[in-house]
Amino acid sequence: MTFLITAGPTREPIDPVRYISNRSSGKMGYAIAEAALAAGHEVTLISGPVNLEAPRGARLIPAPTGEAMFDAVREHADQSDICVLCAAVADYKPANVSSTKIKKQSEKFLLELIPTCDILNSLGQRRDRQFALVGFAAETDHVEENAAKKLRAKNCDIMVANDVSGSDSGMESDMNEVTILFRDGEKKKISRAQKEIIARELVKIFSNFATKMFDKKNVMIN
Ligand code: C5P
Repeated sequence: MTFLITAGPTREPIDPVRYISNRSSGKMGYAIAEAALAAGHEVTLISGPVNLEAPRGARLIPAPTGEAMFDAVREHADQSDICVLCAAVADYKPANVSSTKIKKQSEKFLLELIPTCDILNSLGQRRDRQFALVGFAAETDHVEENAAKKLRAKNCDIMVANDVSGSDSGMESDMNEVTILFRDGEKKKISRAQKEIIARELVKIFSNFATKMFDKKNVMIN
C-alpha cells in the first residue's frame, strides 16, 4: 500500500527571522514512516522542520509552513491508500508577514493571527476520497471525548488520541500511549511504549482497516 504521512510542526513566519511554532518533534510521524517502510509499504513523508534523519526509502517532501503542507498533501493524497496526518500544524498564523525584521519597541506589541487551513478537515470533507483517512488528536484534557468529537467533525476514519499533558509521553518524548478510535465507535488502546513499537502496531491497524475498506468498495453486485 501507499502511505502518505505528515509529521512534525510547522513554522508560520512573522518576519524574516521569527516564527510561530510548537513543540512537536516529528518522532511519532517518522516512526510510523519507518514502520510502514519496514512492513513493505511505499511512503511519502511530508515533513515540517525536524531534527530527524530521513527514513531510508521514503519520498521526503519538506513542508515548512501549514500552507506548504496543505499544497503537498493535496498534490499527493489521491495517489495514496492511507493518509496519516500526524503533523502538528500550527492552528494560527500571522495575518501579515513583515518583509523586514520587526524592530524592538518599548510599547506593547500585538500580533494579529488568523486560522491556518485545516488539512485533515479538507480531506475529510471530500466525498469522493478513495483513501483511508487517519487523524491524530493531541489533548491535555478529556482526551477520548475530544478525540471522538474531532473524528466526527473532521469526518475521518480513524483518530489516534494521545495525552500530551505530561512530559513523559506524547510531544517531544520517545514514549507514547494512545487510544485508537474508529468511525464505527470501536476503540483500541496501546499502552505506554516506545514510539517505534506503537508505530508498528498503528501501521498494522491502518493497513488492516484500509484493506477492509477497499474490499467493501470492490464488492460486485451481480
Ligand atoms: O483540531 P486539531 O488541530 O487538534 O486536529 C489535529 C489533527 O488535525 C491532526 O491529525 C493534525 O495533523 C490535523 N491538522 C491538520 N491541519 C491543521 C491542523 C490540524 O491537518 N491546520
